Amino acid sequence: MQIYLAPMEGVIDHHMRFLLDQLGGIDLCVTEFIRVSKTVLPSRVFLSACPELTPLNERDGKEGSEYGSVNTTRLQLLGSNPELVALNAQKAVELGASAIDLNFGCPAKTVNRSYGGARLLDETSLLHDIVKATREQLPSSVLVTAKIRLGYNDRSSYLRNAIAIAEAGADELIVHARSKADGYQPPAYWTYLNTIQQHLDIPVVANGEIWTLGDYIECREQSGCDRVMIGRGLLARPDLGLAIKAYHRGEDYQYMIWPQIATLALQLLRLTQAHYPPKHMGNRIKQWLFYLMRSYPQAGALFENIKRSRDFDFIERALIKEAG
Ligand SMILES: Cc1cc2nc3c(=O)[nH]c(=O)nc-3n(C[C@H](O)[C@H](O)[C@H](O)COP(=O)(O)O)c2cc1C
Repeated sequence: MQIYLAPMEGVIDHHMRFLLDQLGGIDLCVTEFIRVSKTVLPSRVFLSACPELTPLNERDGKEGSEYGSVNTTRLQLLGSNPELVALNAQKAVELGASAIDLNFGCPAKTVNRSYGGARLLDETSLLHDIVKATREQLPSSVLVTAKIRLGYNDRSSYLRNAIAIAEAGADELIVHARSKADGYQPPAYWTYLNTIQQHLDIPVVANGEIWTLGDYIECREQSGCDRVMIGRGLLARPDLGLAIKAYHRGEDYQYMIWPQIATLALQLLRLTQAHYPPKHMGNRIKQWLFYLMRSYPQAGALFENIKRSRDFDFIERALIKEAG
């Protein structure tokens, strides 16, 4: 059984990956997507999306203290030109990336207009070519994985896309169990993944709508997948991965209580302080509180208290008070 932290553009950056990874229960992270459109991108673009690639001696004297491991971080690319995606993947690998994930699920309008992300779910042969070109460009030691939705306007293309991606040489397929048209509307259709897994020799990873241990158990039953990817559920319940691991060991698990969560949020605030201009101070914390509200009502009250503040000291004091 393996648990992956889902990529979430604008939400799960390397600070969040570091924090949740450190807490435990997560086997693997994926970066926010890097968009490939016209060129082989400069190194700084890769390092910005995936600071885990930063060589140890260039880490501002922080000795890696706020960087996750590059070995457990996949770098995600999004693009529609097979050769260009492959060349950018090669560049990422030259910079130290240990695995490349290809995004075929992003529903964003700007991305789909330029023919990337979920739009490609209607273009099975192009999906195939992108995966094949990337796989052929990289050494076999580097994993090439793909993340899809069940389809674009409906859920009819899921099996042919999954088979095409596997035939193109992908090492693993992650499936967000909804079409682009389904958006984020529950439910997630986990049973489709069972059909996919029956047709594929590579591992299939189930994703979508896992918020609780109960959801996880049901998802496993319906999908037959041994690996799951969780995004919003891990933001709402940061130790859900630990609870799942405890469940597999047959142990009871006590979820973290609010002061422990507030301590984590305080850690995130301090980690991010130097990285955001004053006008964005605390934005990441506020964003996280929005997800935490689902499990911790105290997060809602704290959000109300700090929502208009951009003052580091004020937000820090509020978090220290909550952390007890
Ligand atoms: C704000 C946000 C940003 C996302 N960014 C990405 C992304 O960069 N790459 C990607 O493959 N999926 C992205 N996703 C989709 C998630 O990885 C995941 O498939 C989706 O949230 C369903 O999983 P969940 O129910 O566990 O959150 C994003 C989702 C959200 C809500």
